[in-house]
Amino acid sequence: MNQTYGMIFLGLTLAALATAAGSEATRRDLEAAYNSETNAKLRYEAFAAKAEEEGYPGAAGAFKALAYSERVHATNHSNALAALGVRMTETDTKYLVKNTKDNLTAALKMEKRESVKVYPAYLIHAMADGNEQASTSFKGALASERTHVKLLEKLQEAGADWKKKLMILVCKTCGYTSEDEDLKTCPFCSHPREQFARF
Ligand SMILES: [Fe+2]
Ligand SMILES: [Fe+2]
Repeated sequence: MNQTYGMIFLGLTLAALATAAGSEATRRDLEAAYNSETNAKLRYEAFAAKAEEEGYPGAAGAFKALAYSERVHATNHSNALAALGVRMTETDTKYLVKNTKDNLTAALKMEKRESVKVYPAYLIHAMADGNEQASTSFKGALASERTHVKLLEKLQEAGADWKKKLMILVCKTCGYTSEDEDLKTCPFCSHPREQFARF
């Protein structure tokens, strides 16, 4: 092998190694995100049951909408993993149920962390890896978690009435969550209003 061919071979080998490392990071991120979203769904269902028990149907409805949205994210991440040949089945479930006030605080902390730190980092890996399906899944989750932060902040405002039912729409495709009664299409994935779940 002469020097020119040697350099080309080395370059191709390094490029292949970089791609493999990127794929590995995206796969790990998708697995972590799937586990986290599955946990979040179960946690919100438990928070909803607690809110109902405490006589707060409004807070319970919001938690149910959030649980639905997190399930959408888990499904999208699972589909992106399946495209990489990984099938997720079970997940560790770790969450604590307190009273509704504390549950709202815990939920907001989690949503802020996902919006500000977790998903932006995952997205950088997936985009560098050129994995479009994972990138779309992470972008959709990121856009949704930001809507979750807004909803939870509203529920934490002074004087918020947790007994009063809110009208909440959740996109069945990306999990985008909205209180906009006049919403026509999903601001993130453009799917029509008809495919939103209503809570
Ligand atoms: Fe969320
Ligand atoms: Fe959407």
